[in-house]
Amino acid sequence: MNNTLNEFYTLSDGSKLPKIGFGTYNESFEDNKEAVLAAIECGYRFFDTASLYETERSLGSALKESGLDRSEVILETKLWIDEMGYDKAKEALERSLNRLQTDYVDIYMIHWPRQTGAEDENWKELDRETWRAMEDMVDAGKIRRLGLSNFLPHHLKNILEGCRIRPVVDQLELHPGYSQEAAIAFCEKEKVLPIAWSPLGRGRENATIGNEVLVKLAKKYGRSIQQINLRFLLQKGILPIPKASTKEHMEANLRVFDFELTEDEILELSCMPQTAWLGEHPDYHIPDKKSNFAQ
Ligand SMILES: NC(=O)c1ccc[n+]([C@@H]2O[C@H](COP(=O)([O-])OP(=O)(O)OC[C@H]3O[C@@H](n4cnc5c(N)ncnc54)[C@H](OP(=O)(O)O)[C@@H]3O)[C@@H](O)[C@H]2O)c1
Repeated sequence: MNNTLNEFYTLSDGSKLPKIGFGTYNESFEDNKEAVLAAIECGYRFFDTASLYETERSLGSALKESGLDRSEVILETKLWIDEMGYDKAKEALERSLNRLQTDYVDIYMIHWPRQTGAEDENWKELDRETWRAMEDMVDAGKIRRLGLSNFLPHHLKNILEGCRIRPVVDQLELHPGYSQEAAIAFCEKEKVLPIAWSPLGRGRENATIGNEVLVKLAKKYGRSIQQINLRFLLQKGILPIPKASTKEHMEANLRVFDFELTEDEILELSCMPQTAWLGEHPDYHIPDKKSNFAQ
């Protein structure tokens, strides 16, 4: 196990994150312990999960079985919309810690900014109240750093204006064809590192992999379309967390530091027609546990 990824982003608090993480969401909500063990062997040390995914327990078990010291891995998890609010957030963290079999998480996130969609007038207060609980749990030593997920600039601004501890990351759907330039620019201005979820467009034909620009670039560089996606995100200063089931895919997704796209190619990919995998706007889309993520 000497092939650990040695490329890092530095966060606003001075801590570091490997430039590529491993996503643990799977559409069937099945145990993925073997996939995590394989990912560890490939060199991944940063793992993303959420209470929604039902993969916290198998992630925790895989880490125990791997023999790695807790300090060698970075665990990121999220509270779901039905876990928002001061008391509920504290209880949600305890459940996650229990499932992950650890006494702290490295990054804890609010999964979705708006609990009940556009009709909801109280989202700002609920987000801040949830955040206050998360800050208190940092003080209690149960969380190392705080983050957000699917927070667009107006949601992020609400947290920034009321917080004692600033978020270090924001997880968004990001890949060629879904660049979310306004959100990325705001993150950059506020020194919040963007993390790309579904960085491969979840492998859908209509999201990234059938695109002719990507096909052309994959041919030019002798890489897969998925590797071009990841390279694009890295050159934009974004941290991708691809999910993969096979070791072949896991390894390929780490072999993206030995070639470089040109500035023109980055611009061309940034201007691709919208081809989102999900592309749901957090203000209007009310997530329904499981069904909206597992189409
Ligand atoms: N915050 C949020 O709201 C949110 C939402 C969705 C996802 N996420 C997070 O983001 C992570 C990644 O997103 P995702 O799981 O939706 O999809 P993704 O990483 O964009 O795509 C995963 C798909 O790509 C395939 N793949 C992986 N590497 C490949 C390669 N080198 N060549 C060809 N195919 C490859 C996988 O196939 P195999 O499995 O066969 O390898 C799988 O079908 C999730 O696991 C989760 O942790 C967060």
